[in-house]
Amino acid sequence: MVAFSNKNMASLSAPPGPAGHWFLGSLPDVWHDVLDFYGRSRRQYGDVVRFRAPGRGQWYLITHPTGVEHVLVTNHANYVKGRINAPLKLVVGHGLLTSEGSFWLRQRRLMQPAFHRARLTQLADTMTGAALEVSGRWEKYLGPEEEVDVTREMSRLTLRTVGLALFGTELGRHADGIESALTIAIEHVNYRMMRPYALPEHIPTQRNRRFVHARWALESVVRQLIKQHEGRDGEKGDLLALLLGVRDEETGEGMNRRQLRDEVMTLMLAGHETVAMALSWTWYLLSMHPDAERQLHEELDSILNGHTPTFDDLPNLPYTRMVLEESMRLYPPAWAVSRQPVADDVIGGYHIKGGSPLMMLPFITHRHPEFWDNPEDFDPERFTAENAAKRPKYAYFPFGGGPRLCIGRDFAMMEAQLILATLAQRYRLQLVPGKDVLPLPLITMRPLHKLKMKLAERG
Ligand code: HEM
Repeated sequence: MVAFSNKNMASLSAPPGPAGHWFLGSLPDVWHDVLDFYGRSRRQYGDVVRFRAPGRGQWYLITHPTGVEHVLVTNHANYVKGRINAPLKLVVGHGLLTSEGSFWLRQRRLMQPAFHRARLTQLADTMTGAALEVSGRWEKYLGPEEEVDVTREMSRLTLRTVGLALFGTELGRHADGIESALTIAIEHVNYRMMRPYALPEHIPTQRNRRFVHARWALESVVRQLIKQHEGRDGEKGDLLALLLGVRDEETGEGMNRRQLRDEVMTLMLAGHETVAMALSWTWYLLSMHPDAERQLHEELDSILNGHTPTFDDLPNLPYTRMVLEESMRLYPPAWAVSRQPVADDVIGGYHIKGGSPLMMLPFITHRHPEFWDNPEDFDPERFTAENAAKRPKYAYFPFGGGPRLCIGRDFAMMEAQLILATLAQRYRLQLVPGKDVLPLPLITMRPLHKLKMKLAERG
């Protein structure tokens, strides 16, 4: 597939795609089973597909790595986050994830230093400290009748980590409130993304009232967090101190309240939910693949020999990293990335209309049979340097790419590796038989049902 520019774009044909319902177009298919529908669409129509829905005009699905690279990297200047991402602003406002243009660039440059390698090395102990606390607490769940809700455990752990590492604040006591409010907020944002006709939030339907209340709960945590931190800015050198200390070069003014709230909300939510999902899926996959689990244990035992992992151990734990990468291939926590072209474009030889949203789905591209043998199989060996070099770069993009690449990528990988290494050194997790484990693709990809697992201490 070639992405190219062509002066005579209008002469190119529109991508193929389903006609869908006479009035709702493809929306009912998306509502019914979005992953299955987009997967079938790729198989039936190819790597660029066009969908229609009245009121939304049309939107596209791009699944070929070259097309993904074209949008995210090569021709990124022609793309904005656009209206498909707008519902996210209901929760995170104009934070780094949703802002655009020069404003986004200024904020990105401002925050980038907090994610530099030198800073990350200082955070490793905070991460393993939080993992060790869980390891200690899990002792009481070792009995034969006991089980843990892994998604909940991982969410609490990563929320604590993000609080301590980025904001110098203990968020543990807010964990239950944040989790339930976040679940409502994510479900609502997803609903708004998929239903262009939904009633706006100021109309007090039952759904809207529930959402507004959940958002208020999240906001009150953020407000407390900022308040606690004020007065000691700079002292801790964390990201919040950095944000509080910012001064405009010309006016000398700090970041306004609203912006501060938006950035903290963005980091608190984007920084914990995704890592929690990556780890939850990893525990599930390891329990289903004893060979990979054994290999992981061998690596941990031979390299760590019982000591708590440190930042310096990470390069010597390649299999631990490969397990996580393979888990994010099959269950990418950010399963969809979307953009809107400003002007018309050409992708894969098809005419793409400016202003029409476009979806790129790691979930689909990560299982594209042209780039992955036996794509449904779990096989961490796909991520040896040698095997990875055989694929186009954007056959795998769990963290997006180009200028809007996830700012927390290295933070997330380091955290996930340290947590997995710390806990897998001591425990095995076995899935409690029961309901099928299926993905629930909201903003992040969560397991549909609780992931109940039994703990066993490794001999
Ligand atoms: C496994 C964990 C994670 C995954 C899979 C993930 C995935 C992503 C993806 C795909 C994007 C790009 C979205 C787009 O292009 O539209 C993104 C952006 C972002 N992520 Fe992550 N993320 C993870 C962890 C984190 C962490 C730990 C943080 C913060 C501590 C974070 C903060 C952000 C922010 C602020 C952006 C917006 C960046 C920008 O546009 O400049 N993420 N993430």
